[in-house]
Amino acid sequence: MKQKILVTGGAGYIGSHVVRQLGEAGYDVVVYDNCSTGSPQSVLYGKLIIGDLSDIDYLEQAFRENEFGAVLHFAASLTVPDSVKYPLDYYANNTRNTLNLLNCCDRAGVDKIIFSSTAAVYGEPKTLPVTESSATEPINPYGRSKLCSEWLIKDYARASSLRYVILRYFNVAGAEPGGRIGQISLNTTHLIGVACDAALKLKPEVKIFGTNFPTFDGTGIRDYIHVEDLASAHVDALRYLEKGHESQTLNCGYGKGYSVRQVINKVKEISGVDFPVVEADYRCGDPACVTSCADKIRQVIGWEPQYNDLGEIIHTTLSWKKKLIGLQRNQIQYQAQTQYQNSIQFQLHQNQNQNQNQNIITLLPTLSNTVKVLPHYCS
Ligand SMILES: NC(=O)c1ccc[n+]([C@@H]2O[C@H](COP(=O)([O-])OP(=O)(O)OC[C@H]3O[C@@H](n4cnc5c(N)ncnc54)[C@H](O)[C@@H]3O)[C@@H](O)[C@H]2O)c1
Repeated sequence: MKQKILVTGGAGYIGSHVVRQLGEAGYDVVVYDNCSTGSPQSVLYGKLIIGDLSDIDYLEQAFRENEFGAVLHFAASLTVPDSVKYPLDYYANNTRNTLNLLNCCDRAGVDKIIFSSTAAVYGEPKTLPVTESSATEPINPYGRSKLCSEWLIKDYARASSLRYVILRYFNVAGAEPGGRIGQISLNTTHLIGVACDAALKLKPEVKIFGTNFPTFDGTGIRDYIHVEDLASAHVDALRYLEKGHESQTLNCGYGKGYSVRQVINKVKEISGVDFPVVEADYRCGDPACVTSCADKIRQVIGWEPQYNDLGEIIHTTLSWKKKLIGLQRNQIQYQAQTQYQNSIQFQLHQNQNQNQNQNIITLLPTLSNTVKVLPHYCS
């Protein structure tokens, strides 16, 4: 009988894919999520506790009521420009809340953790590809708040029986090929998401920031990883720790880069839509090329990616976004109805099966983001 696995942020984009894979692999999963950017309906397996990591009493109660064998820690805030504007909030949610979680692990004797880190901890890499021993010099509060969390985990592990796998993600994209889960917010700033939005007429154009980089076509190059492969890396990392192996810090990427123009052309090809592309100024701090050295993760935990294909990443992103747009159209109609009738109270997380519209609402907690996008789409 396997022990329970705690997944913080398991209602979010990446966490929900990991929860699904853990559930399919027979793990007993408990998700702890405040649903600020995630959705209860993205949790396809296990139990969902709606709670905030800053609520230490409630978090401790979750540890007391469940005997966790390991923790997978996804919950975080992750919008880089917001982290520049609100650094204290980012250190609070990303670093202080990791400390809260480690305190609970300490008290409950949980000795295995897998932490969602990011290539942003490397900042502007001086050599390529980026290896796990490359210098960590993050250039924004988001990257620094995640690096501080890494330090917390490593320092605590040195002083205790905790073992960890820290996974540093490169550019994550795609959605579950089955179409049940994906990134919920349509307000994305990542290139693949933005280009898919343009193909679906959610955005009028795609901007290329910088066309004079020293790359083969002058545009920036990044390493894109399919969320399904990233999810399977977590399952592999968990099995690795369960076998008693030592702590690791591992890059998660394919070790192969695509330029901005290549991504845009592929989105046009797959969608069949020739959307406008505008060349804009270089953004300060944008490196020409960021690709991972992905050898260590394959060697150490035996990770075997299955979706290493830009076309597949784009295809699943487009399919998911189309589904989301359909749901949001219903949502907008529902809002109009309720405004007109002025009689229905939204009861989030309650009576979810009462009618279809309430299901849609619980699927879309980031409505404030999506409403901004949709009037443009509908016009
Ligand atoms: N998406 C990417 O491209 C990317 C790249 C590198 C690293 N990461 C890391 O991966 C992790 C997951 O990212 P994601 O893209 O799935 O984001 P996401 O916003 O979809 O998921 C984060 C989840 O955490 C929850 N959450 C946030 N703060 C919480 C709190 N205080 N208490 C409880 N729950 C809270 C949110 O409701 C959400 O469900 C993050 O740690 C992020 O730093 C993401």
